[in-house]
Amino acid sequence: MKIRPTKGLTFDDVLLVPKRSPVKSRQEVDTSTWLTPGIRLQIPIVSANMDTVTEAAMAIAMARAGGIGIIHRFMTVEQQARQVARVKRAEAFMVEHPYAIRQDATIAEARRLMQVHEVGGLVVTNGGEELIGLVTQRDVLLAPDETAPVGSVMTPPDQIVSVPPDTPPEEARALLHQHRLEKLPVIDRQGRLVGLITAQDLVKHQRYPNATKDSKGRLRVGAAIGVKPQDMARAEALLEAGADLLVVDIAHGHADHCIQMVKDLRRAFPEAQIVAGNVASREGARDLAEAGVDAVKVGVGPGSICTTRIVTGFGVPQLTAIMNSVQGIADTGRRVPVIADGGIKTSGDMVKALAAGASTVMIGGLFAGCEEAPGATVIRDGQKFKVVRGMASLGAAMGRKAVEKSNEDESAESQEDWEKVVPEGVEAVVPYRGTVNELLYQLVGGLRSGLSYGGALTIEELQTNAEFIEITPAGVRESHSHDVNRL
Ligand code: XMP
Repeated sequence: MKIRPTKGLTFDDVLLVPKRSPVKSRQEVDTSTWLTPGIRLQIPIVSANMDTVTEAAMAIAMARAGGIGIIHRFMTVEQQARQVARVKRAEAFMVEHPYAIRQDATIAEARRLMQVHEVGGLVVTNGGEELIGLVTQRDVLLAPDETAPVGSVMTPPDQIVSVPPDTPPEEARALLHQHRLEKLPVIDRQGRLVGLITAQDLVKHQRYPNATKDSKGRLRVGAAIGVKPQDMARAEALLEAGADLLVVDIAHGHADHCIQMVKDLRRAFPEAQIVAGNVASREGARDLAEAGVDAVKVGVGPGSICTTRIVTGFGVPQLTAIMNSVQGIADTGRRVPVIADGGIKTSGDMVKALAAGASTVMIGGLFAGCEEAPGATVIRDGQKFKVVRGMASLGAAMGRKAVEKSNEDESAESQEDWEKVVPEGVEAVVPYRGTVNELLYQLVGGLRSGLSYGGALTIEELQTNAEFIEITPAGVRESHSHDVNRL
């Protein structure tokens, strides 16, 4: 037995001491950071892989704002891959495999396909690579006879304006405007249809200048996996669907099977960006870094819905966990960013996590009340709420069992009695908070001011300059508004 000589500290235990600052305007500072060595973000915020926080809608909003979302894993492989694909399809310089329909299909079928895929038009082919027409919503919306063939309303090839591959976006934009078009098929020298440039994508590109995108202009997205043997197949399906990073996510990430999983993934997918966690100690972060991860996820028990520390007695207050993990990674000589996961209640907490050495923060509970989070809004006493649940809560465990059943994967674990489950998380309601963009605006605004107080133009400078001061309960009380009646 040993007792660590230092106290464990968390966000409310400290403040940052203001530093002489060169910053004149909050707009001057740079909030960009590395999520992994291969992925740069314009804002250091990641939405958590929880089933009440991140599916496609949240991941799209996060990436458009310059952060990223990690799709949770508590669904079938096919469902999770579809969620990833939805994000990757949300926008691109060029849609690579545009939805197609045959010339002899009915107008009703065209309407149905546009609705299912949420697109405003389809390319018409006869199953091959030759473009034989374009049909858009306008062509089918008020067509009197639903049973008529698509060929009767489509724009024929001789009236279609098309472009060759590698057409610069400005040129595509000019053509779309000049001809008042919405879609521009991309045709190669051999006359094959290779993609579609849409006016919508160009508009999105302008509207979200900070978006986190891959080399094809598609939004980036991460996806979580576990450590069971079948998770290798899940990893493959997710990468196939276009996932930009895999997050090996288990409650106790400093475990032999997690380290082995990282090594297996590295070997099987050498090009993939791989994150693993969660850990909360110097040794835990060191071992994952040595196993070859591209980022370490740090946090055991700080989450808003976590009861791990109460149920098991284990955990490390989050600020200390971040600092120790950063040291553990430095011991290896590798440059591996830390994702501070859990316990972020305010922009001030985020600034402290970054100042302590994290490159990004992962947020769950705070985002669960947002419009883009999965789940319906409930009204209680005239107020709007949404549900959040820990991934180790009883409700989440029951949800998982339902997924396993639908998957016909009756493993020993899924035979469990519910009385035997020992939850390490709770279910709760959080106030409805509107769109995540509004919340991000406040969080990033706080970070910009924080950088200025820290005498820093960048997050790296904030880390270099950071000086924490421990505070007492009186200091905590003084920090919040006090001795006034808040309206
Ligand atoms: P916040 O504070 O942002 O934290 O809501 C989100 C993180 O909490 C972790 N998490 C859990 N931890 N039991 C736990 O001990 C759980 O049931 C649970 N569910 C989520 C997770 O790391 C998440 O990102």
